[in-house]
Amino acid sequence: MEEHLTVGRVAGLAGVSVRTLHHYDEIGLVQPSARTGAGYRAYSADDVRRLREVLAYRRLGFGLREIADLVDDPATDPVAHLHRLRALLLEQRDRAAAMVTAMDRELEARARGIRTTPEERLKMLGPQLYEVIGAAYPTTRRTEPRIAAQVWEALGDARTVLNVGAGTGSYEPPDRDVTAVEPSAVMRAQRPADAAPCVAARAESLPFEDGSFDAAMAFSTVHHWHDPIAGLREMRRVARRVVVFTHEAGDTGWRHRFWLTRDYLPEVAELVAGRPSVDRLAAAIGARMEPVLIPWDCADGFFEAHWRRPEAYLDEEVRRGVSVWTRVGPEAEQRAVSGLRDDLASGRWPERNRELVGLDAAELGLRLLVA
Ligand SMILES: C[S@@+](CC[C@H](N)C(=O)[O-])C[C@H]1O[C@@H](n2cnc3c(N)ncnc32)[C@H](O)[C@@H]1O
Repeated sequence: MEEHLTVGRVAGLAGVSVRTLHHYDEIGLVQPSARTGAGYRAYSADDVRRLREVLAYRRLGFGLREIADLVDDPATDPVAHLHRLRALLLEQRDRAAAMVTAMDRELEARARGIRTTPEERLKMLGPQLYEVIGAAYPTTRRTEPRIAAQVWEALGDARTVLNVGAGTGSYEPPDRDVTAVEPSAVMRAQRPADAAPCVAARAESLPFEDGSFDAAMAFSTVHHWHDPIAGLREMRRVARRVVVFTHEAGDTGWRHRFWLTRDYLPEVAELVAGRPSVDRLAAAIGARMEPVLIPWDCADGFFEAHWRRPEAYLDEEVRRGVSVWTRVGPEAEQRAVSGLRDDLASGRWPERNRELVGLDAAELGLRLLVA
């Protein structure tokens, strides 16, 4: 017979009260499927899985009614819940890290006798805080013309183009009829006044009919999606051609290709653990894959962009334009930066990376998927 856990044991392991579990049972949220001989509630493995989802959503601040809708959704299986919860927790961690940064800034300002305004004090708690990253974005993230040319060529003769996860619109082709999709309000607000019209939506659920566009593109965004495969299939559904710029992170060996992840920031591996490999992404939409070389003077400040200009990573502004740095947490960030600073000062970095100095462009696992 399947093993069951008693209500007391479940409460103890999960760190909640027995009363809470009784309440969840009474409102039909988590109803244990059995009773012990003495009449106590007993939880099966499936009950425990459901309870864990409920408690995790609860800890993220969801209300009980909202949670009931989430865990009862027949379209979301346990693996999809784990991916979603993981992404939400990372978001919460980024938010906490950004709040610490804002508090450090205020403490520094106070120590120097500078008073913050009431508006500034409130910003730390509001939606603007999470956008500490978003707000830094346009400073260092620009269109890299050589990479843009490769993306636009892959779009072929598409006249109507959907740009998914569009951000501020860096790679939108100027000579086509573009519609953008972007879930972040701060990113949308930072789009130039003459940029393409932008719809608030997520890749995983695009609000368009089948075959609405000649092409759909996604640039440097797939790794942010809760469910990349579902998002790519949505792009495939709404467009006849799909062009995706992404990276190989998650595949074997990628971490050793770039000195920054290899020697200073191995934590990036944890961020991508469990994410689908680029081969799986390509297979999901039947795409072919082209390598994208990164020019040594790449104008777009994405993570790998400064591969031949290592000093750039010592600059806080450069790091704030790339979410990876916030996501690894301040401790790993500071350790990586001071390690790099020391190696640049001692000559160890140039010695270790001698082969890069003569290169004009590097192959660091960036890929264009074209379907
Ligand atoms: C690194 S930015 C890239 C923006 C833009 N494509 C560019 O290259 O400048 C990633 C963007 O993906 C968006 N994003 C996050 N989750 C998304 C999702 N599920 N669907 C669509 N976009 C998403 C973020 O809000 C952010 O604007």
